Amino acid sequence: MNFYERWILPPILDLVMRQKHLTKYRRAVIAAARGRVLEIGVGSGLNLPLYGKQVELVYGLDPSARLLAIARRRAAASAVPVDLLLGSATAIPLADDSIDTVVMTWTLCSIPDPLAALREMRRVLKADGTLCFVEHGLSPEPGIELWQHRITPAWRRMAGGCHLDRKIDELVRVAGFDLTSLQAEYAPGPRTMSYMYEGCACRSHSGGIGSPVSADRGGPSLPAEPCWRRDRRPDNVVAAPRVPVEPMPIRR
Ligand SMILES: C[S@@+](CC[C@H](N)C(=O)[O-])C[C@H]1O[C@@H](n2cnc3c(N)ncnc32)[C@H](O)[C@@H]1O
Repeated sequence: MNFYERWILPPILDLVMRQKHLTKYRRAVIAAARGRVLEIGVGSGLNLPLYGKQVELVYGLDPSARLLAIARRRAAASAVPVDLLLGSATAIPLADDSIDTVVMTWTLCSIPDPLAALREMRRVLKADGTLCFVEHGLSPEPGIELWQHRITPAWRRMAGGCHLDRKIDELVRVAGFDLTSLQAEYAPGPRTMSYMYEGCACRSHSGGIGSPVSADRGGPSLPAEPCWRRDRRPDNVVAAPRVPVEPMPIRR
């Protein structure tokens, strides 16, 4: 971590991530969290005030000590116990099968090895646990996708390693999860940066596809499964049009 990433970027991230239009996504993801929660890339702790009584405790993991210092202030005002952990999602300091819900909001874009991180999330998740996420990523529009690939090399240097061109649903599936819900849509903002993937996934029976996908190139498109469970979706979030789902083959 260089000087810019250690000292300049954290307060900028805290400010940028406070944008009002992101709140509806935060609320939808946190509403699905239950029991013992692990938040990957907790950042400055903007989700911490949203956890309710269905949550027993929150582990907040982040590699930035400066962001965790900001998160510590928000943790003090949280309704649930919060344990902040300094570290990377690629080496989660928690036991296997110990977490009910893994939460991730706009973090997978910044993790250098997203597949290794997702496999770690799968390791710590209980067999009946859930991964709930909202992430920006690869647009389905070829013209936008082209620009996302072009801009990413420069953008990631300025924005803490942020990749604009990751195909989030594909990464989640390849890492060994089955998507139980997925909604993808543009949020307000530049189209290269605002295509949101919001959903939940559970551990698949297989450990995920062994062959590596090129996360940086986005990879081929897989069908979306926008089937948010209505009982978990707050009234203020509008569901996107539904798309038919093709089941993934299970490898044993
Ligand atoms: C755009 S910020 C989002 C922060 C927070 N999740 C939110 O919603 O406000 C991306 C976060 O990913 C974290 N991050 C980067 N690399 C990571 C890694 N290897 N493991 C876990 N978190 C990481 C950053 O430190 C930062 O807090």
